[in-house]
Amino acid sequence: MKYDYEFFKKSADYVKEVSGGFTPEIGMILGSGLGGYADKIDAVCVIDYRDIPNFLVSDAPGHMGKLILGTAEGRRVVCMSGRFHSYDGYDFEELTAPVRLMKLLGIKELILTNAAGAINRDYEVGDVMLITDQIKLNGSSPLRGPNIEEFGPRFFDVSKMYSRELIKIAKEAAEGSGLTIREGVYFFMPGPQYETPAEIRAAGMLGGDAVGMSTVTESLTAAHCGIPVLGISLITNMAAGVLDVPLDGDHVIEVGNRSAKLLVPYFSEIIRRLP
Ligand code: HPA
Repeated sequence: MKYDYEFFKKSADYVKEVSGGFTPEIGMILGSGLGGYADKIDAVCVIDYRDIPNFLVSDAPGHMGKLILGTAEGRRVVCMSGRFHSYDGYDFEELTAPVRLMKLLGIKELILTNAAGAINRDYEVGDVMLITDQIKLNGSSPLRGPNIEEFGPRFFDVSKMYSRELIKIAKEAAEGSGLTIREGVYFFMPGPQYETPAEIRAAGMLGGDAVGMSTVTESLTAAHCGIPVLGISLITNMAAGVLDVPLDGDHVIEVGNRSAKLLVPYFSEIIRRLP
């Protein structure tokens, strides 16, 4: 597949047309079991992924597969309820599509949420980890292939992908929320199998605090086109081998749904405080 600027523009032009030229300021991608936030958006337009030309289709459990454009806390947002993963079968390069679409719609900040397993033994299920950095040793870069100059330069800095300013806002927004906030490093694993205990021990030695199967392609795509990212991981389980219990995908989604009571107002408070 040949990707060029026109390829991604075709998706954005469709969304602009269907939404009557809606121009979101903030992008959001909701992770497993965290789709509940979508109900908070006063929708101007809801689009099925399958109707967007040159876009991808999601059928992962706990994901909805809709692009929602509307307002939340008086801010114009575009929200993906349902995201794409490499374990769905996409190439890493294909996984640039969501953030490039949002970039072309005009977002200035991107909020990425996910469910993650805690490698760090100080963490507990239900904690929220604000992502300070990431480790992705598996697979190619989503920016592999001919560079699209309209989005960004061939070689680009990723030392400050996760904005300190947005982390500060997210920490302040948590005051009085009842949530325990951590700051840590997100370690990407490709899945769909959960990790082995040995892989988790290795990830911990390498500096990971939480492990998950998403987010990193989106943050890299955002860094390439200059969008600051806020990454929020809900700790849904202790990672493999930390406790002597098998991991279970239904449990991950259930913890996500259960945590929605605290997380949905937390996301609202963050959006209210964004610059
Ligand atoms: N590993 C990988 N991805 C995950 C986990 C995990 O333990 N929990 C939620 N997503």
